[in-house]
Amino acid sequence: MISSWEPGTWPAPHVLYGGDYNPEQWSPPVWREDAALMRKAGVNLATVGVFSWARLEPAPGEYDFGWLTEVLDLLYDAGVGVALGTPTASPPPWLTVAHPDVLPVTDSGVRYSPGSRQHFCVHHPEYQAHAMRIVSELARRLGDHPAIRIWHVHNEFACHVPQCFCDFSAAAFRTWLRERYGNVEAMNEAWGASFWSQRYRDFDEVLPPRVVPALPNPGHHLDYRRFSSDSYLAQYIAERDLLRSVTSHIPITTNYMGFFKPLDYFAWAREQDLCSTDNYPDPADPDSPMLTAMHYDLIRSLKKDVPWTVMEQTTFRVNWRPVNAAKVPGEMRRGSYQALARGAAGILFFQWRASAAGTEKFHSAMLGHAGTATPGWREVIELGEELHRLGELTTATVAADCAILFSWPNWWAVEQIGQPSAELRMLEQVRWMYRPLFEAGVTADFAAPGEDLSAYPVVLVPSLYLLTEAEGASLRRYVENGGTAVISFWSGIVDEHDRVHLGPYGGPLRELIGGDVVDVAPLQPGQTVEVAWTDGRRSAGTLWQDLVDESGGEVLARYAAGPWAGYPAVLSKQAGAGRTVYVGTRLDTAALGGLLAQVLGERDAQPTAGVERVVRRTAGASYEFLINHRGEPASVPLAAAGQDLLSGATVSGRLELPPQGVSIVRRETERR
Ligand code: GAL
Repeated sequence: MISSWEPGTWPAPHVLYGGDYNPEQWSPPVWREDAALMRKAGVNLATVGVFSWARLEPAPGEYDFGWLTEVLDLLYDAGVGVALGTPTASPPPWLTVAHPDVLPVTDSGVRYSPGSRQHFCVHHPEYQAHAMRIVSELARRLGDHPAIRIWHVHNEFACHVPQCFCDFSAAAFRTWLRERYGNVEAMNEAWGASFWSQRYRDFDEVLPPRVVPALPNPGHHLDYRRFSSDSYLAQYIAERDLLRSVTSHIPITTNYMGFFKPLDYFAWAREQDLCSTDNYPDPADPDSPMLTAMHYDLIRSLKKDVPWTVMEQTTFRVNWRPVNAAKVPGEMRRGSYQALARGAAGILFFQWRASAAGTEKFHSAMLGHAGTATPGWREVIELGEELHRLGELTTATVAADCAILFSWPNWWAVEQIGQPSAELRMLEQVRWMYRPLFEAGVTADFAAPGEDLSAYPVVLVPSLYLLTEAEGASLRRYVENGGTAVISFWSGIVDEHDRVHLGPYGGPLRELIGGDVVDVAPLQPGQTVEVAWTDGRRSAGTLWQDLVDESGGEVLARYAAGPWAGYPAVLSKQAGAGRTVYVGTRLDTAALGGLLAQVLGERDAQPTAGVERVVRRTAGASYEFLINHRGEPASVPLAAAGQDLLSGATVSGRLELPPQGVSIVRRETERR
């Protein structure tokens, strides 16, 4: 069983294993069968109650907690802990019948209907009051149940309604603006409201950024993004504080969705005891292993000292893509080890038992419609057995080789309408820099601008368009103190209000660039520009061309053709004890990979194509994860001998991994 929780630690001496469990869809005999089968599968955590509001409060103020208590008792007796959900993500029909304006409104003024989920405006006082009341009843009536190990607040905040544009939202936005700016002139200045006669006389004149005839005001939109993320966070905090006041010994989380644009998870993570995330890679997408790794590196980085958990993934197939590719045998296990490799200590699924009805009935589960006589069930049992033996990983941390600077306000700002190129998409920029790292087995943390970077020898900066003076100064200090930064085009362009840092582009990063970025010339989709390196190599750039006047930096590559032939494409500059490399176009993967290999320096282990490699460490040992993403065997040279934690065998020389194979090599000494 899970022992009691100490803040800052993992709430169990073992890896969490299990999934969402929706007993309200089933009868008591099925609950008993579920408890017995969970035990058989090695399940030690079930997420219960996430969508139970209508069953817990069938009419306003009338409660029925008997059935849930019985389920928790059954799970407890079977040795299964519970992540108890607050049911606030899906209000019952009676709430929107009584208060139709609880339903959220889109930017074009369409009011959603009930009949799905997340059909509420987070700013509506009736939603807030009813949500807090059901959370309070839940905590008061069940908070001392011994099965509860974690509170699971809400579900995927903002997933379907990232922003609401109703009149309640408008009022809340004005309050938020008053607090942020104090007086309306400061807001006008921040938003550049002199443009197109947009000056406001009073905060009362401000509306949410609803649909407008032409290009909208970017400052207005950016603040609405901030406001919406803050509003959902305020709801999380309200629920958290209430739960904490009743059960201070139970850690609290809410499930993220990886690189989810509407919520600034760096801000959210500060308010959480531990982070968790939902990941649904598309088995038909060859990039899925890389995208999953990137997602998991982000989640680990949000709260760097505490392990995290996959809260949801599918065992086999989802049901919400047009065609739902199924995982091949071994793929579910391999994806689970990707999470463990990158710092997770919990492997959970949506969901335990496949629904018989409702819109997700064809979404796979740990226990499918056909019962236990399936290959999927065997995989579930086998994974449960393996994870049971890996408790020592719950105290091991990931050893990152570099950091990537990432920020939500930047993501929001750089993708607004009115940019030099709508083709510049933030996640594409991150993937561009992440791909060569993944292929080379280099592990990256993500860091928010302004975070202490001194632990990283190398920091990558993909298109950090929005950068405050303070954040820029922090990166300058990092370099001057000996760090290496690789900075891409369209970084340091605007301040926190999306106002341009005037002068050559780069703002607070200008002196790191090694030249003056005097203008930018985006390339058309599919257009390339030839890049010639000073050592004779040739490569290609796409998407973008910075026009840089040389000043003080060393030019590593120039454009070899086109109207800007001769202009620097890549520059390097010494700054204090450190150095920067500035990349003015989107170099092809091979060229960027070569550049990154150079700055990252010599490494112990040579990459093997298709095999992911990550190292975790504890005080006494290191764990090298090797994960074969290919449908064919891989032979991996080992830098040193060790013990395979999964098979128990001693391994040295070359490790032979079957298709989808995984190995965790434990060594008593630390290695990079
Ligand atoms: C998640 C959600 C779950 C379930 C799942 C299906 O986004 O949290 O409740 O709907 O998707 O893939």
